[in-house]
Amino acid sequence: MRKPRLLLIDDDVNTVNGLKTLLSRSDYDTSCALTGRDALKMIERIHFDIVITDMKLPDIGGFTIIEEIKRKDANTSVVMITAYSSIQTAIDAMKKGADHYLTKPVNIDELELILGRIWEKQLLILQNRELKQKLDEKYNFHGLIGDTTEMQQIFKTISEIAPTTATVLIYGATGTGKELIANAIHHNSDRKEKSFVALHCASLSEGVLESELFGHEKGAFTGAMSQRRGRFELADGGSLFLDEIGELSSHVQIKLLRVLETGCFERVGGENSLNTDVRIIAATNKDLEKEVEKGTFREDLYYRLNVINLLIPPLKERRDDIALLADCFLIKYSKKNKKNIKGFLPQTMRLLNSYDWPGNVRELENIVERAVVMAKKDLIEPDNLPSKISLSVKQANRDVFSIPFGTSLRDAERKIITETLQATNGSKSKAAKILGISTRKIEYKHKEWSKA
Ligand SMILES: Nc1ncnc2c1ncn2[C@@H]1O[C@H](COP(=O)(O)OP(=O)(O)OP(=O)(O)O)[C@@H](O)[C@H]1O
Ligand SMILES: [Mg+2]
Repeated sequence: MRKPRLLLIDDDVNTVNGLKTLLSRSDYDTSCALTGRDALKMIERIHFDIVITDMKLPDIGGFTIIEEIKRKDANTSVVMITAYSSIQTAIDAMKKGADHYLTKPVNIDELELILGRIWEKQLLILQNRELKQKLDEKYNFHGLIGDTTEMQQIFKTISEIAPTTATVLIYGATGTGKELIANAIHHNSDRKEKSFVALHCASLSEGVLESELFGHEKGAFTGAMSQRRGRFELADGGSLFLDEIGELSSHVQIKLLRVLETGCFERVGGENSLNTDVRIIAATNKDLEKEVEKGTFREDLYYRLNVINLLIPPLKERRDDIALLADCFLIKYSKKNKKNIKGFLPQTMRLLNSYDWPGNVRELENIVERAVVMAKKDLIEPDNLPSKISLSVKQANRDVFSIPFGTSLRDAERKIITETLQATNGSKSKAAKILGISTRKIEYKHKEWSKA
C-alpha cells in the first residue's frame, strides 16, 4: 500500500520543519511550501491526498487556497490551521470545502488522529473506485456478480451450455440467484431475441398451473370466458423458466414429461395438438434425487430435466463475494436514492462478512438498500444495519457458555442473564426478548444481586 501524499503550507519555517519531521516518522510522504503561490504551483504538478494549510499566509488567503485545491481535485482533503479560534472562520473554511479545522498550537496527537481518519476514508474511496471499474469489467456477467472460483466456474459453464438446447436444472437455496442465472443462460443463447418466460410452480394450485403452462380453450372450466395461451406457447422459440419444479403434482409432471419428449401438448379443454420449441430451465431448492427415491417426483422426468445441472452455493460458502456484492448494491441504491454514499466503514464490512445470510444474496441486497436509506453520513456505519446482524455475529463468535454441575438455580439464572446482556451489548429489551421475560424482571434481578 502506498504512503499518503501530504502537503504542508505555512509561512513559519519552524512549524513546517517540526511538523514535517513528526509526520515523516508516522509514514506520511510530506512536501512543504512556505507561500501560497509555491503551494499552488506544487498542487498543479502533483496530486496530494491531504493538504494541511495555515489560514493566514503572506501572499494568498486561506479560503482561496482551499478553493484551488478542491477545484484541482475534490477528493483531496484539507485540514486548516489557524491562530484565530473564531467559530466563524471555521464555519467559512468548512463552507469553502475544508474537511477539518485545528487551532494553533497544533496538538500533534490530535492532528495524527485526524490524518489517520482522513486516510482511512480516502483508502475506502479509492478501493470503491477500483471496484466500480472491476464491476464493469470481469466480475459482471449479465448482471450476475461474483469473483469466487465457485461463481467464476458457474459463469464459464453458463457460457458453454447456453448455446445448446439442453435442459438445465438449477439447484440453490432461496435468494442465491437462480432466476438471474436462468436469465443469463437465455441471454447467452441464440434464443435471446425471443421470449424468456418464467413461471413459479409452487404458488399455484394444480388446475391453475396446468392452465398457466398449457393455456385453455373457451369454456374449458367455469370461468374460462375466452381462449388463453399458456407459457409453452408464449415462450415458443425462447426459454421457459420453471421455478420450484419440485412442487409439481404427479398429474402435471406427466404432462410436462410429454412436452419434453415430443414437443406436443394440448390446451386445457382442447383437442388440437400444438407444437412448441422451448428450452426448459428449471430450478429447485429441493433434493430431487431424494424426491425420486420417495416416489414424489417421477424418475423419467428427473432425467429429462437433469441433462445439465448447476449447483449454486449459498452465500456463506462463498464469503469472498460478500464485499463485492455489497459494494455493487451500494452503488445501485445510492444512485436510486440520490445519495452520495462512498462505502462501508471497515467494522460494518466485518459484520457483513461474518453474518450467515440465510436469505442469501436477496437478503444482502435488501439490507444494503435499507442501510443506504438510513445512512446519515457518506460511509455506512454498523448502526445502519439491522441489529439481528450484529447480534447473530456476536452470538456465533461467543463460546457456548457452560454451567458446571452443582451450580445453584440462582447462580445459573444470574449467569444466563449476564451472558445474554453481554451478547446484546447491554440492551435489556433485546436480552428480555431473547430470554422470553420482561425487561422489568431483568431490572428486578439486578437489584436482587446488588443486595446480595
Ligand atoms: N450473483 C448475483 N449478482 C447480483 N445479484 C444477485 C446475484 N444473485 C442474486 N442476486 C439478486 O438477489 C435477488 C434474488 O435473486 P433470484 O430471484 O435470482 O434468486 P432465487 O434463487 O431465484 O430465489 P428464490 O429461490 O427465492 O426464488 C435478486 O434481486 C437478484 O438480482
Ligand atoms: Mg426464484
